[in-house]
Parts: sequence; structure tokens; C-alpha cells
Amino acid sequence: MPAPAPDSPDRPSAVPALDLARLRADFPALAQEVRGQPLVYLDSAATALKPQAVIDAVTRVYARDCANVHRGVHLLSQRATEAYEAVRAKVQGLLGAADPSEIVFVRGTTEAINLVAQSWARPRLGPGDEILITGLEHHANIVPWQMVCEQTGASLRVVPITDAGAVQLEDVDQALGERTRVVAVAHVSNALGTVLPVRAIADRAHAVGAKLLVDGAQAVPHMEVDVTALGCDFYCFSAHKVYGPTGVGALWAPRAVLEEMSPYQGGGDMIRSVSFERTTYAPPPHKFEAGTPNIAGTVGMGAAIDYLAELDRDALHAHEQALLDYATQALSEIPGLRLWGTAAAKLSVLSFTMDAAHPHDIGTIVDSHGVAIRTGHHCAQPVMTRFGIPATARASLSIYNTREDVDALVRALLHVQEMFG
Ligand code: ALA
Repeated sequence: MPAPAPDSPDRPSAVPALDLARLRADFPALAQEVRGQPLVYLDSAATALKPQAVIDAVTRVYARDCANVHRGVHLLSQRATEAYEAVRAKVQGLLGAADPSEIVFVRGTTEAINLVAQSWARPRLGPGDEILITGLEHHANIVPWQMVCEQTGASLRVVPITDAGAVQLEDVDQALGERTRVVAVAHVSNALGTVLPVRAIADRAHAVGAKLLVDGAQAVPHMEVDVTALGCDFYCFSAHKVYGPTGVGALWAPRAVLEEMSPYQGGGDMIRSVSFERTTYAPPPHKFEAGTPNIAGTVGMGAAIDYLAELDRDALHAHEQALLDYATQALSEIPGLRLWGTAAAKLSVLSFTMDAAHPHDIGTIVDSHGVAIRTGHHCAQPVMTRFGIPATARASLSIYNTREDVDALVRALLHVQEMFG
């Protein structure tokens, strides 16, 4: 059956009311043409576009408040320190944490997971202990744990995923045991869009005395997060996927847990006093932030959180979900296209293959239409192995995407069909 025209009335109805034109105007990158066509940006799971408010905040740091933090009595350093430290409370609010001192600034989700792996897990685990992850994790939530296993003699266990790309609680129960010390899961899969039942996993992890780390990189941009309600022990995300700058993110853990963890890296700004005989450490979170941090990036992360706070997140969520439904139906109607990741609880991501063409060819051809998607294994090679495919093409949706963006993708994919079919 031929695919209906992209604007067919048979498709699901329009997204809820939201001033999308105004919202899109906040993102200067959207105003450009790519390969002679208006940019259609469907790669926000890789990195989100930045609103002007974030760009301005980063520029202001370099243009006006350009000084190091925690290190100067002069006015510029005071302003930089105030702007930088104020972001802890913004992240605290974003995640529903109890106190700003529970927020550690890091380079991003990857560094946060490595920090927990090395500072919490490595000193505590030994032979016979187990670390539990799921089959849909990003490499950032696999490799740091493999390293801890090599360092300590602990073992890695993996909860399998279903054909739809879901994680079932009975499989979690099966894999958990009295030797499980750490459970580490994505909140949302970057390769499939699956939303994991984090609260239920937290209860199960705690029942066997394990700690739960949640990789929130793909969740924070799309849903409200409350670490208390989730019941996890560690939560982390990257600013650049939440409309902020690259190279910065945050780790949350309760103060008491941060207190008992060893520092991650040694250097300036993480100490109380240093002598050649003995060094004592600053209290958390500074204990984990050695060296000059990404000051402008952190301030930009704060601006991104402020930007989001001014929007109606329920309306944004409804918009993204409606767009996902619209796109799912539209892509399903393309002959020879297969969607991977069809769990009932899902957001933002459409991973697919086409009989006609390799994902890299799909990516190249849709790019010639001005449509940006990601192709490859998405740093989740075990997911590809699970489904017996080398790669997928992935369109990922964000608050600024429209039905017209999806229609442009569909037109480009129909062109792929024509060329290779
Ligand atoms: N982890 C990012 C992605 O999913 C880079 O594309």
C-alpha cells in the first residue's frame, strides 16, 4: 500500500496548542538553510539546539565576568563565583534534590558515571559482588562498570530486553541477587526511546541492599524528574541535551552518600589543606571538582534550566508525545521501513532501518534534503547486537520540532525508497 501524503488527514490530529513559532524563534540555528533547504533538525538526542538565552549567558561570562571561581577577591571573580554557584540551586530545583550541596558539576553524564564507578563502587566491591545493568544501556553506562569489574573482581550482569526494547521487572527480579551491589540503568534509552520503570527498579535494588544509579541523559530534556520520587541513589545528566552547552552536566547523590565517597580526582579547589605529609579534602560537592571547572558552560547550563522553567513543561511533554505518535504512524506507513524500539512507555526517539538502504545511506540522502538525523550504533552496540542489525537511522524529536519536520523526513525517506527500492 502506498504511503499517504505527509499531510494526509488520516494521520493523528495536530499537537496541543503551543506557540511553536515563538518557541522556534528562540533557537537561532533553526533559522538557517542546509544544502539549500530549511534546516530540519531531528538529532536532539545527540545534542539539542541552544536557545539565544543560553548563548547570551555563555557570552556574558567571557565578555564581562571572565574570571576564575573560588580563587579571587576581585569583583570579576566574585561575580563569576556567584553565577557559577547559583547554578547548583537551579539543578537542585530541576531534579527535586534536597540541597544544592548534593549537586556535583561534571563534564557530563559519562564523567558522572565514571565518578560513581571509581569513587563509590571501586573501593567497596570485590570478587563475587555483582553490578547489574540492562541490555539497552549506552556505552557510558557499560564501560565504566566493566572497568570496575576488572579492578575489583566483581562481575557484570545484564537484564535482557524484550523484542520491543522494554525492560521487564520479572527479568530484573531474576537478575538481582544478594551479591548485587550496584544497579545502573538508563531512565530513557538513547537508541530506542524506552522509558524504564525506575521507581520499581529502585525498590527492588534497595530490597537486596544495592545502590541505584540512573543515567538521565535522555530523560531530563523530555520529562520532569524528581529524584526523591524516583527513589534512586545517584542521578546524572548532560547539559547539552537540555539546551545547554557541551562539556558540562551534573551528578546528584544524597549528601550523606557524597560525604562517604572518596574524591574522584586530586588537584586545586578540592582540598581543605595540603602539605607533603597529608592532604585533607573540601566537603562535597567541591571534593569532586578538582581544577578550574567549565565556568561558562555551567552558567550556560543554569540559563538552560531557567529557559525551561519559563515554559509549560506539561504542554511541551504533550507536544513531544503527540509528535512521536504522528511520526511513528507516518514512518510505519513507509513500505520496507522497520521501527526498532516499540515499548509502550517510550519517548522522543524513532530508530529504524529500511530494506532498501543501509542506515548511513539513509542519513546521507536525508541530509541532502536538509534533514539531520543520526545513523550508526548510537554508542549502544549491544542493542544492535540484540536485534541482529549493524546500525539504525535515528530521528529524535525535541520541543522545537513540528509536524512539518516529520513530513520533511517522510518525503526524504520516500526519496530513499525511489533511489534504492
Ligand atoms: N549519546 C548521544 C546520542 O545518543 C551522543 O546520540
